[in-house]
Amino acid sequence: MTRLLGIETSCDETSAAVLEGHGDDVAQRSLVILSQDVHRVFGGVVPEIASRAHLTSIVPVVERALAEADTRLQELDAIAVTHAPGLVGALLVGVSFAKALAFANGLPVVGVHHMEGHLFATTLEHPEAVPPFTALLVSGGHTLLLDVESWGRYRLLGATRDDAAGEAFDKVAKLLRLPYPGGPHVERLAKEGDAERYRFARPMVRGNQQPGEPDYYDLSFSGLKTAVLNATRDVDVERERPHLARGFQDALIDALVEKTFRAARALDRERVVLGGGVACNRTLVTAMRARLAEIGAEVYAPSPRLATDNAAMIARAGLFHFERGERSPLDLNAYATLPIPGLVTA
Ligand code: KG4
Ligand code: ZN
Repeated sequence: MTRLLGIETSCDETSAAVLEGHGDDVAQRSLVILSQDVHRVFGGVVPEIASRAHLTSIVPVVERALAEADTRLQELDAIAVTHAPGLVGALLVGVSFAKALAFANGLPVVGVHHMEGHLFATTLEHPEAVPPFTALLVSGGHTLLLDVESWGRYRLLGATRDDAAGEAFDKVAKLLRLPYPGGPHVERLAKEGDAERYRFARPMVRGNQQPGEPDYYDLSFSGLKTAVLNATRDVDVERERPHLARGFQDALIDALVEKTFRAARALDRERVVLGGGVACNRTLVTAMRARLAEIGAEVYAPSPRLATDNAAMIARAGLFHFERGERSPLDLNAYATLPIPGLVTA
């Protein structure tokens, strides 16, 4: 039995969690997430403010996660911390704190890749969401389509060529004069929208695409964003908002569903796992379920608390690496970008 403290500070959530378990039998003992609401006023995350906010909240957040888990530092086996990718200043707060806490208490540190964390989030709630599976990770900074043969062995099938899916939601929300982060607002408005009023082209989706072609699995959202921008010209944006939101969301979801369907079918996977903030979108999850049912594949999505940034997923990925005997040196650093570990080539 391993007990781990996880720490996540890559963007605008200060989070800590305690997990306990072995292999795929893992229980979450606590999860504390402090969202930095201050960024709303600026319409996006301000890196310098994010770092300072992590600095003031990291100690109470970790203390509370330990208290809620009824765990003393001496009872931990290791500390897992997000060290990439993300805002370097924000990451450094978590990494420095984790290393100091570990060193002072004689504990090992395990550095975790943030996107690998998202890959592990769903299994915390759905024990069946384990490899092999097709994974679609859709967050504010990343959009990755992966084949997960086993934990630690990931084949990158496709990725966005420009904006991430969450970024597209946030940018379109801005065009529609909605608050940040825009995803939930766009989804809510789209429910009242007319699907026929604005039909945008499905990005990177053509009927004659063949496996092996570079755009078979890749995604792109900046053209769709421009199409929405063009559609906002010369119309009453306030009045057209639900219809524009609907047109945009339908096109984006269709592209995500089509590429994920292709991947699950090609690799004969019976499970599809969604992760990242955009996986909070119920319209996406419902559309994915309907399409994947055609090949008998089950779709697993995390609840909003685990879909968005949190330390439980970092502790869960850390536990996997810790049990494999991996330890990070005390000169573990923070990186703005870093490929997900365990990538295998086709
Ligand atoms: O994974 P996440 O919490 O942070 C990153 O690692 O980026 O994802 C945040 C993103 C934001 O772009 C936000 O607009 C989007 O997730 N999001 C949604 C929804 N809820 C959050 N996008 C679409 N529909 C939603 N319901
Ligand atoms: Zn994230």
